[in-house]
Amino acid sequence: MKAVLCKELGPPDSLQLREIDIDPPAADEVQIRIDACGINFPDLLMIEGKYQERPPLPFIPCGEVAGTVCATGGSVSSFNIGDPVMAVTYRGGLAERINVRADSVIRRPASMPATVAAGFPGVYATSYHALKQRAALQPGETLLVLGAAGGVGLAAVQLGLGMGARVIAAVGSEDKAAALREMGVHDVINYQTADLKEQIKTLTDGRGVDVVYDPVGGDLFDTAVRCIAWNGRLLVVGFATGRIPELPVNLALLKGLAVVGVFYGRFEKEQPALAEQNMAELLQLYVDGRIAPVVHQVFPLQDYATALNALTTRKVVGKVVVETGTLDAHD
Ligand SMILES: NC(=O)c1ccc[n+]([C@@H]2O[C@H](COP(=O)([O-])OP(=O)(O)OC[C@H]3O[C@@H](n4cnc5c(N)ncnc54)[C@H](OP(=O)(O)O)[C@@H]3O)[C@@H](O)[C@H]2O)c1
Repeated sequence: MKAVLCKELGPPDSLQLREIDIDPPAADEVQIRIDACGINFPDLLMIEGKYQERPPLPFIPCGEVAGTVCATGGSVSSFNIGDPVMAVTYRGGLAERINVRADSVIRRPASMPATVAAGFPGVYATSYHALKQRAALQPGETLLVLGAAGGVGLAAVQLGLGMGARVIAAVGSEDKAAALREMGVHDVINYQTADLKEQIKTLTDGRGVDVVYDPVGGDLFDTAVRCIAWNGRLLVVGFATGRIPELPVNLALLKGLAVVGVFYGRFEKEQPALAEQNMAELLQLYVDGRIAPVVHQVFPLQDYATALNALTTRKVVGKVVVETGTLDAHD
């Protein structure tokens, strides 16, 4: 099969598209014919050796896949060949096929196209876990989402609104602010041109927000932590700016603030039943039309480097997806 290989750590341009063999699925695995693969920020960190997990080289990067079951291992009874599925695999996704343990494969609704499914489970599962289990977000509370047009950010905006919160979406450009307003988000702040702290003060009558969702880190974290109300929660989701910020803990004392870490991969391993329940609820929200995944652009497999580099431009609204099935047409 064709696969993109990371043979040495470096930027997306150092990856290589190659022909490789794939083993048949093990007894407890299914083999998925991948139609589409979602690109996530951690994929960039992983190929550059900056992610918490450093897989042995060579490896196939990107790990949010959607496709169809094309083979099943001997002990698998939960899936049949032809079933439409998706999975978060953390790597192995920029390829035509992948073997995945059957217990981590998710059946995708018939109404969910592969290009949508390839950008669905990672970001929605992360943001739902963050808002539901980690922040215990309540109806009527105010939620500030930083990087609100990005993958996890936009999912947090949609889920926060669905959970009955007042959502303030904060983004780094006017284009992104306009895109969010067009989606019906009422309170949007462009933190490149406006003073975030002042805007939050105005929007909340000086009270501050109950929950901050932060996938960005850096200077924005330093400002956002000063926008939190009494008894607030600060969700530490990621550091897209590249700087892991530090918190003066007197702020935690003064605000009765809880700093809450969010690590979806670990949550899924430690509490699989709860993660499964979350995913069932998310799929129902999708089927009911209460969340609407946004696909920014779909690239053919051979444009993998452009797809990965797109995340560094800060112009993406929603998800970037690579369509593996387009390879023959372009190769
Ligand atoms: N904790 C978890 O379990 C978990 C799970 C998934 C992802 N994450 C983390 O969440 C973060 C976001 O992931 P994502 O896939 O949603 O990424 P994404 O779609 O690229 O969104 C990241 C957002 O960060 C903002 N940003 C600010 N400075 C940036 C910079 N220098 N480079 C790139 N973006 C910058 C951008 O928004 P503006 O331009 O509007 O500022 C961008 O929309 C990453 O750090 C990722 O590792 C964590």
